[in-house]
Amino acid sequence: MKRAIGVIDSGVGGLTVAHELMRQLPKERLIYLGDTLRCPYGPRSKKEIVQFTWEMVDFLLEKEIKMLVIACNTATAYTLEELQKQLNIPVIGVIQPGARAAIKVTKNNRIGIIGTEGTIRSRAYAQALTRINEHIMVTPLACPLFVPMVEQGILAGQQAYDIVEKSLIPLRSSEIDTLILGCTHYPLIKDIIQEVLGSEVSLISSSEETARETSIILEWNHLLNDSEEAPKHQFYTTGELDIFTKITEEIFHSKIENLQTVMIEKAVIC
Ligand code: DGL
Repeated sequence: MKRAIGVIDSGVGGLTVAHELMRQLPKERLIYLGDTLRCPYGPRSKKEIVQFTWEMVDFLLEKEIKMLVIACNTATAYTLEELQKQLNIPVIGVIQPGARAAIKVTKNNRIGIIGTEGTIRSRAYAQALTRINEHIMVTPLACPLFVPMVEQGILAGQQAYDIVEKSLIPLRSSEIDTLILGCTHYPLIKDIIQEVLGSEVSLISSSEETARETSIILEWNHLLNDSEEAPKHQFYTTGELDIFTKITEEIFHSKIENLQTVMIEKAVIC
């Protein structure tokens, strides 16, 4: 099945998931869309997040994708159920896979979650974790400064360290042994987060588990690509190409082709 897997995020964060999809499913073609122009989604209302996500989805449906990966925790928290009900292709998000991965790793059942304000407000992670194990103690923390920092390409250095250190102060007394990076932008500053928290806290990013789940769903639905041709991925951003290119090359460790700016906005929310 040569049709592509659609991958969406509010910006560059979902590229961390796209990268893992390419690693685990090297025959699959991806079409990635990052709504960089309207990033961050985290502080926005549910209504805006839902509308913007649908605009991304409609754009990708026109490209006849065979499966949708919502590589954005914020969009997953507010739209996964609706999209799964309304689309006639398989749809997965990143929250359930992230929760599962964290439960595999924790030894003391104390799990922290950092994410955008929207994701933390939704309580989607807490629900996903306690649905699997009701004894899990969850410590949630919104880190609203991380996404704007990453979208500006600030991924290392003193300024980034200071922002991360200050933002994570509330976790100091939490006794967590596992921390879910509940935003797909955060793996890009994973080294700093690890340095601030120390090696005794295991960091979980949902990309590996999400890619594994994608692979299982494709196989189950007989949707795997069996063509021998190397897949030609396509990247779209609603924002500027420069910074998107810089961060993409940082993640993929290679130059990317087929990157285009698009407009997906339909109507203004009143
Ligand atoms: N990368 C996104 C997430 O996983 C969203 C960041 C944002 O737009 O605030 O939540």
